[in-house]
Amino acid sequence: MDASQLMFKPGLMKGQKILVTGGGTGLGKEMAEAFLHLGADVVIWGRRGDVLKETADELMGKHGGTVTPVACDIRVPDAIKDAVDQSWAGGAVTGLVNNAAGNFISRTEDLSTRGFDAIANIVFHGTFYTTLDVGKRWIDQGIKGNVISILTTWVWNGSPFVVPSAMSKAGVNAMTQSLAVEWSRYGIRFNAIAPGPFPTEGMSKRLNPTSGGDAYSDMSRNPMGRVGHMHELCNLAVFLMGPGAEYVNGQTIAIDGAEYQSSGGNFSGLRSWTDDAWKAARDAIQAQNAKDRAKRTV
Ligand code: HXC
Ligand code: NAP
Repeated sequence: MDASQLMFKPGLMKGQKILVTGGGTGLGKEMAEAFLHLGADVVIWGRRGDVLKETADELMGKHGGTVTPVACDIRVPDAIKDAVDQSWAGGAVTGLVNNAAGNFISRTEDLSTRGFDAIANIVFHGTFYTTLDVGKRWIDQGIKGNVISILTTWVWNGSPFVVPSAMSKAGVNAMTQSLAVEWSRYGIRFNAIAPGPFPTEGMSKRLNPTSGGDAYSDMSRNPMGRVGHMHELCNLAVFLMGPGAEYVNGQTIAIDGAEYQSSGGNFSGLRSWTDDAWKAARDAIQAQNAKDRAKRTV
């Protein structure tokens, strides 16, 4: 992310401590960098301890400040409790970004129940477990916390070929709307961001696994003709997380160049794929899964 493209004054986020799940890579890393650059302390979670540490060192080297890596698998409730304890050390967490996720394209008839759970346990259960643990501490300690969840535009129209993700993200959208109302009496607010295409390795290798890296060279399907720029996402995240926009509550905001309005923004285009195309996709995704799994430390 190009920090000079951030819209906000230096020090805007001073005094805040933001926990970003999945903050070691991709969009989570970008948002963590923006919060850090604007003066917040940041805590990043993920399952690959070395990836988190490399990210923390890189971001502190660029911007100073404090980035604390905490290895945690959000599918495991006891692990979340320990990780939140570690995240609270030295000062309370004041903001949570539910960004960690898993996803892969697959025909739904090719999924096993374990395949469904691999996604739902991260996105649906893990996001709730994390929000519940952090939220209860905020309520006990009288902290006016702030939550952003990273969703997709499919929360409004579903998506073929990523059904476990579409179902789980829709559930987190319902959590956002529900808890914005229920926990407003504690001063805790909830919003969500639904990004369009912001190419990252984790996403591209699982949602465009056989494109050879050029899936985003033709963006004619997008009304603006391009993918998102990371600073654009970061500016929206800071707007929602920073001070001054407290009355925005219970909203899910798309940032996709109007792709959703234009084409639904989902995977309908894969209906023409052949059996061979699906086999090639699955092989490529599972190779990436195995590569990433080998680096997990929790
Ligand atoms: C069908 C598949 C499959 C595939 C895995 N499975 N890949 N089934 N097609 N391509 C099945 C396996 O066969 C297995 O079931 C089950 O899923 C669990 O597989 P594991 O590899 O053991 O899972 P695990 O190690 O727990 O890894 C979880 C994961 C992995 C979700 C599968 O992809 C992961 O860790 N992802 C994290 C990063 C990520 O996905 N980032 C992308 C986010 S992008 P069986 O029955 O065989 O045992 C995103 C973008 C959305 O969300 C919006 C874009 C516009
Ligand atoms: P990514 O780099 O693969 O990010 C996913 C992150 O989640 C990784 O850092 C991963 O780290 C972490 N994670 C996964 N399972 C976890 C678990 N069980 N416990 C803890 N951490 C876990 O992909 P991304 O593209 O940046 O995606 C980030 C978010 O943006 C996701 O919510 C995704 O759905 C959303 N999104 C992305 C796009 C896009 O275009 N990129 C569009 C719409 C929405 P470990 O593997 O180390 O655990």
